Amino acid sequence: MAANPFVYGEIVTDAAFADREVERDRLARDLLAGQKVFLISPRRYGKSSLVRSVLRDLGRQGVLTVEVTVAASSSYVGFLEAYARALLLAGTPTGRLRQWAGELLGGLRPEVRLDADAPGAPRAVVAFPGIRSSRDVARLAAEVFALPGRIAERRGRRLAVALDEFQAITTFDGGSVEHALRAAVQDQRQVGYVFAGSEPSLMEQMLTPKRPFYKAGPVVRLEPIDPDDFAAFIERRFVRSGIRPGEGLGAAVVDLAGNVPYDVQRLAHELWDDVRASGRKTATVEALHATLTRLLQEHGPMFEDAWQRLTLAQRAVLRAVVLEDGRGLLGADVRLRHRLASASSVQSSLAALVRADLVARPTPERYVVVDSLFREWVARQTY
Ligand SMILES: Nc1ncnc2c1ncn2[C@@H]1O[C@H](COP(=O)(O)OP(=O)(O)O)[C@@H](O)[C@H]1O
Ligand SMILES: [Mg+2]
Repeated sequence: MAANPFVYGEIVTDAAFADREVERDRLARDLLAGQKVFLISPRRYGKSSLVRSVLRDLGRQGVLTVEVTVAASSSYVGFLEAYARALLLAGTPTGRLRQWAGELLGGLRPEVRLDADAPGAPRAVVAFPGIRSSRDVARLAAEVFALPGRIAERRGRRLAVALDEFQAITTFDGGSVEHALRAAVQDQRQVGYVFAGSEPSLMEQMLTPKRPFYKAGPVVRLEPIDPDDFAAFIERRFVRSGIRPGEGLGAAVVDLAGNVPYDVQRLAHELWDDVRASGRKTATVEALHATLTRLLQEHGPMFEDAWQRLTLAQRAVLRAVVLEDGRGLLGADVRLRHRLASASSVQSSLAALVRADLVARPTPERYVVVDSLFREWVARQTY
C-alpha cells in the first residue's frame, strides 16, 4: 500500500519538492561563488526546504556544508556554541572532534563532550565555559565567525553555510553581532553564506544603508510557488499513489490553502488520509471540503483561544483582513463596512496581529492570515 505522498511540518526535499528550479540553481551558483545571499519570505514558504535541498546537492559536489538555526538558541553564547559545533563537525568524524577543536580554537579552551543522554544517538556538544565578560564574548564571536574561512583553507575545500531564521540575530547583544559577522564573512572568498529569514520586515531593515549587511550580497525574496504548477504537482502525486484526483482538485487545494506550501501539503496530506480510510478511489472536491471541516473542528479549541486573547478592535480588524482579502484596510469604505474605528486604530490593531504572528504582510499592499485554517475558521465561526 502506498504511503501518504504529502509531507508537512518538516523540511522536504527531492520527491516531495515542487518547482523552485530557478531558485535552486541560482542559490547553488551563488553559494559556490562564495556569495553572501539573503533569502527572505514569510514562514512556511519553503526556505528551509530550499536551502536543505541546495546544500545536499553541493555536498555531493564535495562542498562542506553547515546548517544552523539561529532562532533555536536562547542566548548569544548559546548560538556561538551551536555554530562552532556545526562548523567543527562539517566533514569531521565525531571521534576526531576534540582534536580538531583544539587545533582550531585552542585559545578559547573549548570543552568537547559526548552527551549520551541526548534523544537518539549520542550527540557531540561544544561549550566554552571560560567565557564570562562581554569582552570574552566578543573575542569568542570573532574567532567563531572566522572559523569557516580557516576550515576552508585547512581542508582545501569550499564551504556553504546556512544560517536559518537569521532575523533572530537581532535579539542578541544589540547591533554588534551584525558588525562582527559582516566583517568576518566579507573576506571569506571560499565560503558561501545564505542568511534565511522569516520575518520580512526585520530582514529588510537589516539590509538598509545604516546596517552592516547593507549591500553584502544578493537578496532573494522567495515568492509563492506558481499556483498552476503547484496544483498540477498535487494531482500528479495523487495519481502516482493510486488515487484519482477529481475535476479541479489541485486548484481547490492550493486555493483553500492560500497557496502557502505548508498549508497546501497539510490539506493534501489530510485529504489523502481521509480518502484512503474511506476506501474510495477518487479524491473529489466534496471530499476536500469534508476534510477541511474535520480539520477546523480539530483545531477549534486552539483557534478559540487565539480569538479570545484578542481585543474587540483586533477581532474586527482580523475579520476585515479575512473578508477583504487583506486589501485596502485603512480606506474609509472598508472601515465603514466593518465598523472599524479610525485608520490609526486599525493600524495599531494590524501591528498587534502581526506581532502575535496571526497576520503577515507579504507585500506592503496586503495583509494575510498566516494560517489558512485559522482564516477559514474566522470566516465561518465568527461574526
Ligand atoms: N518546494 C516545495 N514543494 C512542496 N512543498 C513544499 C516546498 N517547500 C516547502 N514545502 C512545504 O512547506 C512546509 C514548510 O517548508 P519550510 O521549508 O519549513 O518553510 P520555511 O523555512 O520557509 O518556514 C514543508 O514542510 C512542506 O510541507
Ligand atoms: Mg524554515
